[in-house]
Parts: sequence; structure tokens; C-alpha cells
Amino acid sequence: MTIDFKQDILAPVASDFAAMDQFINEGITSKVALVMAVSKHVVEAGGKRMRPIMCLLAAKACGAEDLEQARRLAAIIEMLHTATLVHDDVVDESGLRRGRPTANATWNNQTAVLVGDFLISRAFDLLVDLNNMTLLKDFSTGTCEIAEGEVLQLQSQHQPDTTEQTYLDIIHGKTSRLFELATEGAAILTGKPEYREPLRVFAGHFGNAFQIIDDILDYTSDAETLGKNIGDDLMEGKPTLPLIAALKNTSGAQHEIIRRSIATGGTSDLAQVIEIVQTSGALDYCQQRATEETEAAIAALNALPDTIYRQALVNLAKLALHRIQ
Ligand code: IPE
Ligand code: IPE
Ligand code: MG
Ligand code: MG
Repeated sequence: MTIDFKQDILAPVASDFAAMDQFINEGITSKVALVMAVSKHVVEAGGKRMRPIMCLLAAKACGAEDLEQARRLAAIIEMLHTATLVHDDVVDESGLRRGRPTANATWNNQTAVLVGDFLISRAFDLLVDLNNMTLLKDFSTGTCEIAEGEVLQLQSQHQPDTTEQTYLDIIHGKTSRLFELATEGAAILTGKPEYREPLRVFAGHFGNAFQIIDDILDYTSDAETLGKNIGDDLMEGKPTLPLIAALKNTSGAQHEIIRRSIATGGTSDLAQVIEIVQTSGALDYCQQRATEETEAAIAALNALPDTIYRQALVNLAKLALHRIQ
């Protein structure tokens, strides 16, 4: 069965999704015009809105009837996500995001860092209004771990000896943790603490698969489709899973090219690296790992009642595995 995003994922929460999207825009208010301009530049460029959709579906899967609070939470999560992207593009020196020049490229690093800070602060400002200390604590702790994931990644930059376990620690922090907050947060808001753990496990594995696919796409896609430049990871000397796997699968000259590319960064060897990643079976291995993570994610959902909302979460996980953008 091919999964249709609108029909098989979005439909059960479509009206809440539209209201949530409006709330993101309304939530970004500042008396400083530059803050507004930069925030709007990134938010209005769109994005897949995966995390807020997951939050809304998780709330429904927990049995929530009124999604008023979940809509707010979903908007807050997208705001946090947007902030991490604005900061990430400074750190990664990236020039293209969501098909537009990044905030750092359009304005400068200083502006992007400060507006990213604003977006995080504003997200917590709105979170306080939800008046739920458990939720606030969960998000405070989780946000620290997201920052730690990015710093851990910085430490492994240019390190060809980075292990798959370290890679998993990095992606759990920088990517999966926010997906976990989106679903666990929904369980907290709905007053269903018994669903926190299964939803967290679902989102953790989903996030891992999502980031592994993202790291594959950085070698196989193109800027037009992806909305961001490919080769950025190699440029920065990031030992992502395609390279870690390629190192395992090669020896001699090929092995040395990969090691050197990680150590020095830059894209002068990009064509060769892509070739090696593809022919050494590294990409097959990454696909296999992403499939395993997706299966583990879906299995965790068995602890929830069988509803159309749970099925939509399953569909989302399956679709993400085959995403091209
Ligand atoms: C980008 O996230 C950062 C990663 C975790 C790979 P998305 O791919 O969800 O970005 P948008 O929101 O759709 O732009
Ligand atoms: C995504 O990391 C940013 C965060 C999860 C904070 P990456 O640097 O790997 O993703 P892209 O390719 O820039 O979206
Ligand atoms: Mg990054
Ligand atoms: Mg990046």
C-alpha cells in the first residue's frame, strides 16, 4: 500500500493542524521588527511540520477529545524546532534551508544566533501558559539534551574514529529528543502518564530513522528536491552513518579517501566519496538500520489502543522511511 500524506496521516487531525499552524504565526510576536522579519522568513518558508503533526496525533491516540492545549503545544514544538534549525545553520555554515537562503546567509551569524535565542525563549514563554509543571520540566530537561547532542556532534567533527554508538548518541540528542518531547508531551497534557513510555520509545526510534535517512539524503539527493544543499555534512567533516559504514566496508585507497575527507572536511572529494558510499554497501547498511529503527518505533505503539490515530502514526513512520525531502 502506498501511503498518502493527506489522506492517511493528516486527515484525522486536519482542522486542528490548520489552527495550530495559525497559532505558530500568532505566537511569534515581538516589538523588534528584525526579530519578526527573521522569524517569519524561516517559519513562512514552511517545512514538513512533522513534529507538530506527531504531537496532535499522539494526543488523539491517548484519547484526547479537545485538542485546544495540544494545538498550542504542537505550535511550541515547531517553534523550538525552527530555533534549532536557525542555530544549526550558523554552526554548519549552511546557505540554504527550506528552499530559501538561511537566516545567517540573508542577515548574518549574529542576527541568526540572537533570533534563535528569542524563538527558544518565546517557546518557553508560551509553554508556561499551559500551566503544567510536569510538562515544563520535561521540556526544560529535553531542551538541554538537544543542545548537548549538537555539542557532542561538534566534538566528533573531523574524527574518523567516531563509532556508530557515538553517532547514535548524537542523533538521539539533536534530533530524536524533540520528537520524544512532542509525543510524551501529548501524553502528559492528556493526563495519560501510562502512555508516556511507549510514545517516547516510538518517537525515539522514529527520530533515529528520520536522521539516518537525512544523512543518506545528504549524499544522494539534490538541493532542488531537498531544499538544502547536499554535501554539507562532508564539507563540515561530519562522521555520519554513511561514512562510518563506508569505513567499515572498505580498505586501502578507498578507506583512506573517506578517512581523509572526514579529517579535513571540504567537498573536493565529494564525487569520489559518493561513489564509495554507494558501491561499498554503506547506503544499503544505512537503509537497513533505518528500517530496523522504524520497525522498533511501530512495535512500541502496540501499547496504545488500536485507533485511526495510532494507525496514522504508523503511516507517518512508514512514509518517513521513504521520504525524499
Ligand atoms: C531537519 O528537520 C533537521 C533534521 C532533524 C534532519 P526536518 O527535515 O523536519 O525539517 P523541516 O522542518 O521539514 O524543514
Ligand atoms: C539538524 O541537524 C539540526 C538539528 C536537529 C538541531 P543537521 O545539521 O544534521 O541537519 P540539516 O541537514 O542541517 O537539516
Ligand atoms: Mg548540524
Ligand atoms: Mg545542518
